[in-house]
Amino acid sequence: MNYEDVMKLALERGFYFPSCEVYADAQAGFWEYGPCGVSLKNKFLELWRRELIRRDGMMEIDGSQIMSKSVFEASGHLENFADPIIKCTKCKSTFRADRTISEISKIEIPESADLEDFDKAILQNNIKCPKCKGDFESTKKFNMMFKVGIGPEEETAYLRPETCQSIFVDFPRLFKTMRGKLPLGIAQVGKSFRNEISPRQSLLRLREFYQAEIEVFCNPTKLDEIEKFSEIADTIIRIQVDSKLQVMTCKEAVESKIIPNKFVAYYLAILIEFYEKTGIDVTKSRFRKLGDKEKAFYAQVAFDFEVETTIGWLELVACNYRSDYDLSSHAKKSKEKFEVMDNEEKVLPHVFEISMGIDRSLYTILEHSLYDDKENERIVLALKPYLAPIHIGVLSLIKKDGLKEKTDEIYLQIKRKYDVFLDHSGAIGRRYRRLDEIGAPFAITVDYQTLEDQTVTLRKRDSMEQNRIKISEIDSVLSEFTAYP
Ligand code: GLY
Repeated sequence: MNYEDVMKLALERGFYFPSCEVYADAQAGFWEYGPCGVSLKNKFLELWRRELIRRDGMMEIDGSQIMSKSVFEASGHLENFADPIIKCTKCKSTFRADRTISEISKIEIPESADLEDFDKAILQNNIKCPKCKGDFESTKKFNMMFKVGIGPEEETAYLRPETCQSIFVDFPRLFKTMRGKLPLGIAQVGKSFRNEISPRQSLLRLREFYQAEIEVFCNPTKLDEIEKFSEIADTIIRIQVDSKLQVMTCKEAVESKIIPNKFVAYYLAILIEFYEKTGIDVTKSRFRKLGDKEKAFYAQVAFDFEVETTIGWLELVACNYRSDYDLSSHAKKSKEKFEVMDNEEKVLPHVFEISMGIDRSLYTILEHSLYDDKENERIVLALKPYLAPIHIGVLSLIKKDGLKEKTDEIYLQIKRKYDVFLDHSGAIGRRYRRLDEIGAPFAITVDYQTLEDQTVTLRKRDSMEQNRIKISEIDSVLSEFTAYP
């Protein structure tokens, strides 16, 4: 199913919807998660913690969203974190230069290209304002950080454009107090903020968005000395370099230098193993190696993890080898020491980053899981049971004759442990279909037989198969089938 189908589901079933929607001055690029969206997001993050953070023995922090100006002077964001924009001389509308050129003329120019490259493409292809056909001024840079004023004097600070800057700034304290040892992964989940010129497509280009970022600090002389590599040597990886897609094991990718070292390969592999467990179809994914003009200003080597959807390839994760760019910049600006000991050696660690866009990942999971079961006239969200916003629907066949009370009793028994939707009204078939649409893998129905023999009907979402189980078995069925892998 496509973007519109996912959007309809999101709006009608409480996954996500526009922020401040009752007001005419609601701004584009801000979306809210409803109850189903929050539940899916929390479960996705629990899987992320299991498969990446705990698997690798990383630590997690929770830093400030507003950070001081010095941080972004040092990080280079004040100077470099800018989009190329073009303004119409007639109607004064502003557009992203790279996107407008690509939409009108199909010419792809990377966003970090020289400003003259955009002007040249506009002139050569006679590109005009999409709104009024006016001419454009020459291309300019627009810094995408949101500025905030602190206190009555309105001292300048910024909403963070990436969560990882607090990880870099906090690194010396964390390494010391947590008795760190290289390689060391430090992670953070939280909101980041970017003043996008043209936010669009709901969760796909937001001004306020969630990231789950991991920064792995390492000794740059030991990038091939990683013991854990044996765990993933045979993991299949799909990697695209210069438009050529190659499918190979991690071992082959390192031996052929398509991936620069075992350290990077290990983290790309555990990332793909994680996404496989989200239910995303990883045969429709690739790690795309970025060219020099496409990489972020801080990246030495970069792979974007992209997944194919009905609206094209979406970048879900930026994997950047940031070298010592961040730690040396913060050391210089703050005059603090960022070197640490690696056994007997004093090193300024290098950083490999796995920067995940949570909102886009959730969209992709929804799109890859949603299907139209025409034969049974139902829409099904075939989420992995451990990611389902609701684990089980608890339904009474009818409200009378003590069935409601028996259903409430079962609900009370399991609601602290599982996400349960209690439903007493409506035709049973319609109630099952509503549960199918939000991905609930199970439903149980209480009927007259329940009062006689303490059994209920258990219905499975995917097969629609129904069988009777004892009330006392509900917990074990749920715990077996909704457990994380
Ligand atoms: N930290 C990398 C990014 O936000 O894209």
